[in-house]
Amino acid sequence: MDTSEFVEFAKTVIDFVVDYTNNLRDRDVLPSVEPGYLSKLLPEEAPHRAEKWQEVLKDVKQYIVPGMTHWNSPNFYAFYPTGNSYPSLVGEILSNMFGCVGFSWITSPACTELEMIACNWLGKMLGLPSEFLRHNDGQGGGVIQGSASESTFLCLLAAKDYMTRHMKTLYPDMDEHLIKSKLVAYTSDQSNSSVEKAGVLGSVSMRLLPVDDKCSLRGEILKKAIKEDVEKGFIPFYVVATLGTTGTCAFDNLDEIGPICKQYDIWLHIDAAYAAAAFVCPEYRYLMSGVEYADSFNMNAHKWLLVNFDASILWVKDSRRLVQAFNINRIYLPLEKDVVPDYRHWQIPLGRRFRSLKLWFVMRIYGVEGLQEYIKHGIKLARLFESYVKSDDRFEIVTKAVLGLVCFRIKGDNSLTKELLDRLQARKKIYLIAASYQNKFIARFVVGNQRCQEQDIMFAWNEITTQTTEILRENSIDSSIKLRNEIGTKIEILNIETKDVSPKIS
Ligand SMILES: Cc1ncc(COP(=O)(O)O)c(C=O)c1O
Repeated sequence: MDTSEFVEFAKTVIDFVVDYTNNLRDRDVLPSVEPGYLSKLLPEEAPHRAEKWQEVLKDVKQYIVPGMTHWNSPNFYAFYPTGNSYPSLVGEILSNMFGCVGFSWITSPACTELEMIACNWLGKMLGLPSEFLRHNDGQGGGVIQGSASESTFLCLLAAKDYMTRHMKTLYPDMDEHLIKSKLVAYTSDQSNSSVEKAGVLGSVSMRLLPVDDKCSLRGEILKKAIKEDVEKGFIPFYVVATLGTTGTCAFDNLDEIGPICKQYDIWLHIDAAYAAAAFVCPEYRYLMSGVEYADSFNMNAHKWLLVNFDASILWVKDSRRLVQAFNINRIYLPLEKDVVPDYRHWQIPLGRRFRSLKLWFVMRIYGVEGLQEYIKHGIKLARLFESYVKSDDRFEIVTKAVLGLVCFRIKGDNSLTKELLDRLQARKKIYLIAASYQNKFIARFVVGNQRCQEQDIMFAWNEITTQTTEILRENSIDSSIKLRNEIGTKIEILNIETKDVSPKIS
C-alpha cells in the first residue's frame, strides 16, 4: 500500500468511525446472527492475490458490523462499560504507528517514562496514597496491564514468592515446595471470576468467604478463616478485596480487612476494576476508606474512564517484590538503572505495547474536570433510572444503588425478572444482564456511555415497563387459567366422589 492509498483508506475509515459512532443509537445493541455465521460468509483461505482496501472495508460493513455487540451504544447497560473516546482512539493509532515493544527502557525510553508519569498522574487523580506513586526515593509505582485478571494473578504470584521467601528465612530447613503447597488465599464469594481463576492458575487454594447482607466482606469472617487455616498448618498469604463487585457493586470493608492483613503479613490486593474511576471525584473517595492498608491496587481505565481497551492500571507500594519474583536475565535483555522501572519484571509477558499514550491523551484532552463531569453525568443518569424503578410498585430495588449500577427486579417470583431479561435480549433494543442476591434473580442496569442521555434512560425504562406489563398480563391470564383448571378439576373430583358415595338405586 503506498502513501496516497493509505491516506485515502485511513480517511475513509475515520469517516466510517464517526458515522458509526454518531448513529449507534439507531442500531440494535445486540446482533441478529447465529453462532458460526461468519465462516459461512468468508472464504476458507486467505486470498492468493492482493485485494483492494475498498473490498475489505465493504466486507467489514457487510459481514463484521452485523456480528458486533455494540458496547459503545447508549443502549448498552450490561456488564460494566467499556472505555471509548476519540482522544483514546487517536492515541491507539499513534501507539500502533510507533509499534515499539517497550519491555525495557532502551527499547523505547518514552514508552517506559510516559507510562511512569501517566500512572502517577492517574494515581494522584484518584487520590491514592503517595506510596503507590513513583518517587525518586521510593519503591512504589504504577504499570499498565492488559486486564484486571492479569493484575490479580500477577500480584498473587508475587505474593506467593514473597511469602515463600519469608517462610524460608523463618524456617530455613523447610522445603520450598512444602511451603508453597500450604499457601492459602482469600476473597469474597462476590469477587470477580478472575480472582478464583488466579488461584487456579497460581496453583493455590483460594477460599471464597461469605459476605454480609450488603455483599461486603467483613473483617470477622476473614479473621475466623485465617485462624482456622493457621491452626490446620496452612499459610495465609494473599487477600483480594473488591471495591465495586461485578454483581452488585458492593465494597469490601478495607478498614476491617486491612489491619488483619497487616497482622498476618498478608499481601492485600484491591480489585477496583470498575469503581475506582469514580474516585476522580473526591466525594466518592470515602468508598475506598482503608486503601492505605493495601499492597497493590488495580483499576481498569478501559472500563469507566474513556480509555479504550486495554488499559488496566496496577499500582504497587513495593515494586521490589515484583522484581524479586520475576527477574529473569539474559544476555540480550538490557539491565536498567534504578532511575526508571524495568517494566518487563512488572508483568507476565516480555513485550509491552505503548498503552500510556492513549491514557495520557485522555487525561490531557478531557482534563480532571472533564473526567469528573463524565463520571457525574453517568451517576446522575443511574439515579434517574433508580427513581423510575422506585416510582413503579411492580418493581423493587434489590441492593442499594451505588455509582452507575442499579440492581432491580420485578416483585414476586424470580421467573418474572428472568423472563424480562430474556425478552429484552430477544428484542435487542437495550442490553442488560442478570446477577443474583440472596437467591433473588436480579437485573443489572449500568450507565457508563458518554453519549447516554436522559432520553435514552426514558427509552430503556419504557422498554422495560412495556415488557413487564406484557409479562404480568400473560402471567395473570396463565394464573387464572390455572386457577380455573384447578377449580374445574376439583369440581370434577367432587362430582365423581359425590357419585361414588351416593346410594345406588336399583
Ligand atoms: C470487579 C471486577 N474485577 C475484575 C474484572 C475482570 O476484568 P478484566 O476483564 O480486565 O480481567 C471485572 C470485569 O467486569 C470486574 O467487574
